[in-house]
Amino acid sequence: MELINRPRRLRGNGMLRKMVRETRMDKSSLVYPMFVVEGSNIKEEISSMAGQYRYSVDRMEEKLIELQNAGVTSVMLFGIPAKKDEMGSGAYAGDGIVQKAFKKAKEACPGLYLIGDVCMCEYTSHGHCGILRGQDVDNDKTLEFLAKTALSQVQAGADMVAPSDMMDGRVAAIRRILDENGYVNTPIMSYAVKFASSFYGPFRDAADSAPAFGDRKSYQMDYHNRREALKEAMLDVAEGADILMVKPAMAYGDLIREVKDKTDLPIASYSVSGEYAMVKTTAKAGFIDETSIMCEMAVSAFRAGTDIYLTYFAQELAKCMDDGMIG
Ligand code: PBG
Repeated sequence: MELINRPRRLRGNGMLRKMVRETRMDKSSLVYPMFVVEGSNIKEEISSMAGQYRYSVDRMEEKLIELQNAGVTSVMLFGIPAKKDEMGSGAYAGDGIVQKAFKKAKEACPGLYLIGDVCMCEYTSHGHCGILRGQDVDNDKTLEFLAKTALSQVQAGADMVAPSDMMDGRVAAIRRILDENGYVNTPIMSYAVKFASSFYGPFRDAADSAPAFGDRKSYQMDYHNRREALKEAMLDVAEGADILMVKPAMAYGDLIREVKDKTDLPIASYSVSGEYAMVKTTAKAGFIDETSIMCEMAVSAFRAGTDIYLTYFAQELAKCMDDGMIG
């Protein structure tokens, strides 16, 4: 057989395969999302997300140290307040749950990089991501509250804020309030391309944040749309976003690539709760191998163009990178 091209030549040996590897990753790209609740001495497992817990502020340190020891240097915090109300007042309270968590995390682990998810759905009694007018979320009124929320997180110790609400104009509103208060160097990672997705199901259980009526389709995007994803990304660039996120990650690799190619900002993708839960439950049933599936999903997100990967598997992935399984 006279074959000139034999792609298998480069696959014959482990060292060679690693030499020609196209996608390279590093632990500094990983962000771990973590849930914090009111109360004391709490570490309760989230039933829909085996291996993930809600921590009270006095118990979060143990997890932060574990992460740090594993080489995960960045954490995103979600607060779950004891009481929710119409106006989501816990989101921007100086002594709100996430604000207390930022203070504690900064004190306990000053070497960690702390990111705040900015949204109202964990704090509103109706579970929507903003302030209601009738049955609809009032976009422009909500901006004021999102901006206050972002500022309060930064004042409490957040190094970066990440608005996930999908209101129009939120990046500009947050940039303005941060700048006015002297936080000109605090970056904004915008959940720019965020779809109305059923992959968030387990998160809403974790944060008790499912909308009491209706759904989020009037603010989160329709997953049929690709050009609209670019429109959202470009608007956030114009409003001053520093990093753009695509969410979910697994079923949206095309858009991670597209946004990567068409903008010049770093790209984040969020492997959400439903992706995590699917892997955990299917592996538990014995149908897939958890570690190798987790690695394959992560590498595919990076291959698509991800620079920053948010995942509940951050600690396990860090270990796989240390072990040379991926990286
Ligand atoms: C808050 C928010 C959500 C997620 C991140 N920030 C829930 C939602 O939009 O319904 C989802 C994260 C996950 O599913 O892991 N708006």
